[in-house]
Amino acid sequence: MGNTQPTPPSSELRETGTLDIKDSRTSKSYSVKILEGGVEGDTAVRAMDFRQIKTSPDEFGLMTYDPAFMNTASCKSAITFIDGEKGILRYRGYPIEQLAEKSTFLEVAWLLRHGELPTQGEYDQWVHDITYHTYVHENIKTFLQGFRYDAHPMSMLCSAVAALSSFYPEAKQIHDPEQRNIAIVRLLAKLPTLAAFCYRHVKGLPFIYPDNDLSYVENFLSMVARMSESKYEANPVFVKALEILFILHADHEQNCSASAVRAVGSSQVDPFSAIAAGIAALYGPLHGGANEQVLRMIKEIGDKKNVAAFIENVKSGKGAKLMGFGHRVYKSYDPRAKIVKKLADEVFAQIGVDKDLEIALELERIALSDDYFVSRKLYPNVDFYTGLIYRSMAFPTDFFTVLFAVARTSGWLAQWEEMLNDKEQKIARPRQIYVGYGERPFKSKLTNHFPNAKKPAPAK
Ligand code: SDX
Repeated sequence: MGNTQPTPPSSELRETGTLDIKDSRTSKSYSVKILEGGVEGDTAVRAMDFRQIKTSPDEFGLMTYDPAFMNTASCKSAITFIDGEKGILRYRGYPIEQLAEKSTFLEVAWLLRHGELPTQGEYDQWVHDITYHTYVHENIKTFLQGFRYDAHPMSMLCSAVAALSSFYPEAKQIHDPEQRNIAIVRLLAKLPTLAAFCYRHVKGLPFIYPDNDLSYVENFLSMVARMSESKYEANPVFVKALEILFILHADHEQNCSASAVRAVGSSQVDPFSAIAAGIAALYGPLHGGANEQVLRMIKEIGDKKNVAAFIENVKSGKGAKLMGFGHRVYKSYDPRAKIVKKLADEVFAQIGVDKDLEIALELERIALSDDYFVSRKLYPNVDFYTGLIYRSMAFPTDFFTVLFAVARTSGWLAQWEEMLNDKEQKIARPRQIYVGYGERPFKSKLTNHFPNAKKPAPAK
């Protein structure tokens, strides 16, 4: 009895009922199909089915209004499943807990992209291809050296990835599977190199080149931390922790940055530019930038005895948010946060519990029992403990989101390729509800449109 694989689920949507609508403005009735998809039974109606609802034939028709897409499915996807109420996260059906415990980041990157786990042969070739594409063009070094010493590494990383598109013009051939594959390999291979170069630049240290004898995570740590030693010996506790953290951060369905990659990628730009857009979105403090803000928040609290007062300030609504808490989807404990917390315990068992961890534990203890947070279903998310582990590895606070970007590149690329292969997708171009002025005649209030011009303004 071999490893029986379930048949891949169909991506077809099936009709499961109808929505009968009566427009009180016209007393006309409409019937819209309710569609159901996948094994989890997500249901939706096609927004375009509402366009037929009009009060007169020349009207545009009814749109759906959904700021921040709180209730809008922008796509069908088979990559990641999240159940926010039950705190479930699965990549291609595999529970995140099992992947974090038994897999490697590159095996997960393959799984996210291809939908199935790699055979040993596929995996060996994948690791080889990625290992032998870790170098970047020497001009990228010059490019990065143009940044100030105190430049934020996310700003550097976003720029460097966008710049890579100028080195691989053939990546524009996004419909050529071979060009798509090599671009995906290059991005997965070069993100750690670029991230490490950003770190070394800010530290004023010489860039360390990739070491092809090392694993993906060990090589990254080597490019970050190697000094005069000929061969870098990574701390095995840190290697294991980073491998797990990369797996946990690999994908998270249609989050802000994945949506940015899909939207920018839908214009058929090259994947380097689309991934740069994802990095820019992740940089935000409400998204991937939260792990950096968690540490800054903990530093601001300063001592465990100040936690209660800080929490009251958050609850007043006037203070800062409790960074690392809350989630658009998870209305229970983020399953990744549970794994990260266990990892933090292991790392701190080795290096000793410190004041910041005590503050974090006190924040969590109070928040999980306080009705303000419980009633709003605000639980720790993946960012709450991650920063503490990165800091224990001596990564600077503003580098935490760079680590998130390195890992999330695997998910963004899987989402990007799935979007390209989805026959229903086309360039993303939402509509709007126009609430501005009606037509009005132009009458300027200016007497001179060119105040800085030396010569008299041209006659209008
Ligand atoms: C990530 O989408 C993803 O999947 C993202 C991510 C991924 O893997 O890609 O999981 C990674 O981005 C995790 C989230 C990291 N961000 C933070 O930790 C920042 C702090 N969290 C919040 O800013 C907030 O919780 C969000 C942005 C994460 C979610 O915001 P929502 O869903 O828009 O919820 P909301 O802002 O409407 O909040 C609902 C209520 C509000 O209070 P009331 O108006 O009802 O009085 O909860 C309050 C909010 O003020 N609230 C918080 C809070 N988060 C929400 N109050 C205090 N502290 C917080 N952290």
